[in-house]
Amino acid sequence: MNVTVSGRTEPFRTVAFDAGKNSVLLIEQRLLPHEFKIVATKNFRATARAIADMVVRGAGAIGATAAYGLAQGARAFRGRDLKTFFAHVEFVYQTLSDARPTAVDPVNAMSAVRAAMRTGETVAEQQALALAAAEEFANEDARHCAEIGEHGAKLIRNGMNILTHCNAGWLAFVDIGSATAPLYAAQAQGKQFHVFCDETRPRSQGATLTAWELAQQKISHHIIADNAAGHLMQHGEIDLVIVGSDRTLGRTGEVANKIGTYTKAVLAARHKIPFYVAIPLSTIDWKIKRGFDIPIEERHESEVLGAWGVNPRGQREYVRVANSTSGARNPGFDVTPSDLITGLITPAGIIKPAELWKHRRQLGLRD
Ligand code: MRU
Repeated sequence: MNVTVSGRTEPFRTVAFDAGKNSVLLIEQRLLPHEFKIVATKNFRATARAIADMVVRGAGAIGATAAYGLAQGARAFRGRDLKTFFAHVEFVYQTLSDARPTAVDPVNAMSAVRAAMRTGETVAEQQALALAAAEEFANEDARHCAEIGEHGAKLIRNGMNILTHCNAGWLAFVDIGSATAPLYAAQAQGKQFHVFCDETRPRSQGATLTAWELAQQKISHHIIADNAAGHLMQHGEIDLVIVGSDRTLGRTGEVANKIGTYTKAVLAARHKIPFYVAIPLSTIDWKIKRGFDIPIEERHESEVLGAWGVNPRGQREYVRVANSTSGARNPGFDVTPSDLITGLITPAGIIKPAELWKHRRQLGLRD
């Protein structure tokens, strides 16, 4: 998407690869909205750290980062022995998939890269195939988001107020975003609407990232405290909810997404407000059979006990907010049952969550 910094506008992808330097290029998301900076990770361990520390975050973006990280690790291997190469690639795969557990995109992305590599007969061939497959994953991610935009824009009418949670925007993908794709497509069609961004404590991705994206694209919006959505719904101020997903179960239609999504889905059902989830195909998990088995990331308590911001000198700073002797729990995601979801906006069209399995071939599941 286009980014305007100091009056200069340029297109950027959230994740890219510098083949000459064997480095992954990432937008440093922890600095936004205060500073726009691209950082390079020079080896697969640094790439895994960037995922774990949330330099890059969002399901599709960490999927593409893991795919590039696997190619990066494979390309760094010196030698010709295939057996040693396989063991090395396995270690790289494990390091990257351990970085964050809830989103399934990194696993799906790296499985695609590994499958493509297997068609090569030498180490050099497999290294080249790895990078080509990672590039293909990144391009497909952007294509899927554009298709989600086309389908989802049909849900948006002039004058609507739309709620979104966390950041399922282009910063959470390679480009365009999932939940934001219908917004950008509707804007391109000349529709007028307003967006409410849930602040999304504890890391505030709604207040920092989604709000920054919408401001960049000149979409009318307000940030609201996480607790304000019920009040706005009760007063008829929200017409539609669109959120993203970190893992959607192909067998049940349950959706794991940023903590607080479930609460919003319950509220939307109570107020009969349509609740949609936008998902590219790499977010579907065809294996896990029930939402309770989705691994939910527990992050450090400091995220809940305080907040990051920028001080008057422009430096990023953490301040403790909570009582100094209290501890905190910090589950990063929750699971929304399929009966609370009006529809899933996929690249193949809008589908009822309970019908995902029926459409599995069309949605890319191969035997
Ligand atoms: O912890 P994050 O920021 O990586 O969480 C991801 C999210 O922003 C979302 O929950 C989002 O809706 C899904 S990612 C497309």
